[in-house]
Amino acid sequence: MNTNNSDKTAAPQTAQKVTGDKVGTIKGFADMFSPDSDVFTFMENTAREVFGRYGYTELRTPLLERTELFCRSIGTETDVVQKEMYTFPDRKGRSLTLRPEATAGVMRAFIDAGRHAQEPVSKLFTTGPMFRYERPQKGRMRQFHQINCECLGPQEPQADAELVLMLMTFLRALGLTDLSLQVNSLGCRECRPVYRAALRDFLDSIDRESLCEDCRRRIDTNPLRVLDCKVPTCRELTADAPRIIDHNCPECRSHFDTVLRVFDAARLDYVLTPRLVRGLDYYNRTTFEVVSGSIGAQSSVAGGGRYDGLVAQLGGPDVPGVGFACGMERLALMLPALEKKRPDFYIAVLDPAAADAAMLLAQELRAAGKAGEVSFAARGIKGQMRQAGRTGARCALLLGGDEMANGTVVIKDMDSGEQRSVPQGEAVNHV
Ligand code: HAM
Repeated sequence: MNTNNSDKTAAPQTAQKVTGDKVGTIKGFADMFSPDSDVFTFMENTAREVFGRYGYTELRTPLLERTELFCRSIGTETDVVQKEMYTFPDRKGRSLTLRPEATAGVMRAFIDAGRHAQEPVSKLFTTGPMFRYERPQKGRMRQFHQINCECLGPQEPQADAELVLMLMTFLRALGLTDLSLQVNSLGCRECRPVYRAALRDFLDSIDRESLCEDCRRRIDTNPLRVLDCKVPTCRELTADAPRIIDHNCPECRSHFDTVLRVFDAARLDYVLTPRLVRGLDYYNRTTFEVVSGSIGAQSSVAGGGRYDGLVAQLGGPDVPGVGFACGMERLALMLPALEKKRPDFYIAVLDPAAADAAMLLAQELRAAGKAGEVSFAARGIKGQMRQAGRTGARCALLLGGDEMANGTVVIKDMDSGEQRSVPQGEAVNHV
């Protein structure tokens, strides 16, 4: 701490007028006051409650990781790694990156803690800010928030199905029903190269120059991503591209069939979406996205899939896994504002001599479980009653010179306007 009083750069101790330009926030980063922050709290609380029923526990990982972690998991040819990461050297020149997603960090933590040796199945959820240098627009921020779940251990298709059912249960618990679940199977190490070759042949048969710049590059680096392009001409030209599910090996086919069978049995609607390839390289077999038709171009509210081999790729044991993440900003776009809970009281102080007693009375009421505020300044009664109304309090308590003299307090019902005087010691029974 700087204790040098003559230091001109020291922060002012009181709210004096400081001249100068406003600093402002970074583009694509946002502050969040109530009631927006209340919606986020509601989502997090609902997630904790629903995921808890499925055996998930919370894991908190750092926001900053070694850059290498994301290159080795998300893939060096992905848009996220190529163009979107906040990467910088620390003071010793080591390359660090603000997490663009949570999965890689969860895998690192899982490996570091040797969790596989302690539990056959680890079900972990994490929430918090992620960072991607993308062009900000509605539903797309550079700092955004995810609710993320990973189920590590089981390779059975029932684990994929349970995870998706849990995601849909969570979204329903938020009150969101008008959503579409898209599913696909990306095959495995055995069958994907065969599909990749077939897709390459198809892509080589179309005129490269008519594709967008990104797709021209992706044909060589990551041909599956061409299927994901949103440019209408690219979509038209690749409309007849071979479908990955038609190239799934028998094991992948049977895995996917079981997932879909459980969805059918659970009466979960889904749309088979052969072009769904996801933007991160670690996926295999089941992949899915949840899409909304009501929030604009950035319509994907959740996405995920199976990623067998990822833990081993990051230097851990060969533990399979499946997971998803929801984008909280996008979910918030679909949620109505929460109704604010009304406070129980507001204490108006009508005489400076009542200020201490008012504070103590408020403390007593809060200790009894009541919520409310006390005025700090003894102003005129009109202004204080207006403030009581602004807070939405159910009742106003008035403490002035007369009340202090006879040990009472006036309680006014803010809805009916009715008021009565009661002993201060009994106020808690009347609020
Ligand atoms: P993702 O599809 O890259 O997957 O992101 C998941 C969700 O995060 C998206 O569906 C979207 O709602 C939200 N999102 C992504 N980028 C932004 C942005 N710039 N602004 C606002 N929201 C955004 C993953 O991140 C994987 N790690 C999911 C996963 C977990 N797969 C397996 N486990």
